Amino acid sequence: MIELMKPEDLDQVMEIENSSFNNPWSRMYFLNEINNSELSEIYVDIIDGEVVSYGDLWYMFENCDLTKIAVKQSLRHKGYGRKMLKHLIATARRRGCEFMHLEVNVNNADALNLYEKNSFETVRTRKRYYENGDDAYDMIRGLIDGSEPRKVLAIETSCDETACAIIDEEYDVLSSVVTSQIDVHARFGGVIPEVASRMHVEQISTIVKQAVDQAKISLDDIDAIAYTIGPGLIGSLHVGAIAAKSLAFFYKKPLIGVHHLKGHIFINELIKPLNYPMMALVVSGGHTELVYIEDDQTFRIIGTTLDDAIGEAYDKVARVMKEAYPGGPAIDRLARDGKEHYQLPTPKVEGLDFSFSGLKNAVQQLVKKEEAAGNEIDKNDLAYAFQEVALNMLIRKTKLALEQYPCKSLVLAGGVAANSRLRQLMSENFSDMDLILPPLKYCTDNALMIACAALHYLKAEKYVDFDAPSRPSMSIED
Ligand code: KG4
Ligand code: ZN
Repeated sequence: MIELMKPEDLDQVMEIENSSFNNPWSRMYFLNEINNSELSEIYVDIIDGEVVSYGDLWYMFENCDLTKIAVKQSLRHKGYGRKMLKHLIATARRRGCEFMHLEVNVNNADALNLYEKNSFETVRTRKRYYENGDDAYDMIRGLIDGSEPRKVLAIETSCDETACAIIDEEYDVLSSVVTSQIDVHARFGGVIPEVASRMHVEQISTIVKQAVDQAKISLDDIDAIAYTIGPGLIGSLHVGAIAAKSLAFFYKKPLIGVHHLKGHIFINELIKPLNYPMMALVVSGGHTELVYIEDDQTFRIIGTTLDDAIGEAYDKVARVMKEAYPGGPAIDRLARDGKEHYQLPTPKVEGLDFSFSGLKNAVQQLVKKEEAAGNEIDKNDLAYAFQEVALNMLIRKTKLALEQYPCKSLVLAGGVAANSRLRQLMSENFSDMDLILPPLKYCTDNALMIACAALHYLKAEKYVDFDAPSRPSMSIED
């Protein structure tokens, strides 16, 4: 998420600064900039604790200067520069600036390309501007020429997270608030639907208010209200739907019903732009699907589980091993110290489909057998064995899918995308293509993902009526 730079970000920023510029700014200079927020602001993009880029703005009345954007060297050409630039433009616009100005080395083709694509125009050349004798272009773009980017407020309540987020069309995140009910459901060893609905009812107003307050806007400034229309628990979906419909009715805004799994896919746009056709491997508590995405409006399920979803299998195997709900993270942790020991059968499923219930039963049988024989189960080794079979099936089928449906990019989506071994296997097996792994904080349910997907509905003017029913088992193809 992009936020104002803090002193604790300085070490990482200095590393990027020193490797990016011939005349890097000093630590003192950065600290002065941080403390001088009336006249200037430095923003950092932090993903999983790592600073990936930063950008600096100076304000001068109705004008502002973009003094620099830098991206960590190992992460260049992945869209992080574009993301920071969009954020800085949106920020300057909100501060009431009318123009943005910058200087760029005429030999820096990447930077020139980025600025030109974002409507900057060269107004003059400064000869021998840089110490090495290079020229600079002065570039300018207006900030009030186009209309303001539209803003969407999104609500997510499909399972056991109550969440609300606000984002604008330029992917500037204005706020994102999530509360999880995991602690409550852990006592029961799984999500109890009735309990989940009631907790959503208790939380929803506070969460929406927090998201609006954090965004420092009024609900009148929102251009559309989005919510998860399905799939999910019917009672939980209803709470979000009623909240969204009430807001849309009262503030006279269009209403957008988002498919939950599209949220898991499109949140990856906060990382970088997506390239189509794209393959999505969707792995969550309720779904295991290979989805061929021709463009941002056309989804086709080309493979799916014939029985349990993979997240469900993780949760059930964890329960057999007497681990707390949700089981995915527990198995992930245990397997890290596991080794080859137990043999589990590889499910045999034709084509691009999956199956996990045979594997889950095999784990159950194995535990029973060992217990009957008086042997203690090595949880690390069992978690390892389960995971290797389950995850390698995902990899094998994804490879097959890409052979049959060649794609420009591959994206991992859903709660199980947080799994460390799966992320490792994906990186190892698909290093030759544009692979997008969501940062951990975006893997579990949140409302930012619903907001990201909602932008595509907004673009296509796909709205729903106030009487639209929630759809607990909606398909991503609908
Ligand atoms: O997408 P999600 O938050 O909810 C649904 O939309 O279903 O996914 C939840 C699932 C749970 O089954 C949970 O055990 C699993 O994601 N999960 C994991 C990990 N973290 C969460 N599975 C394996 N490894 C993990 N690290
Ligand atoms: Zn989910």
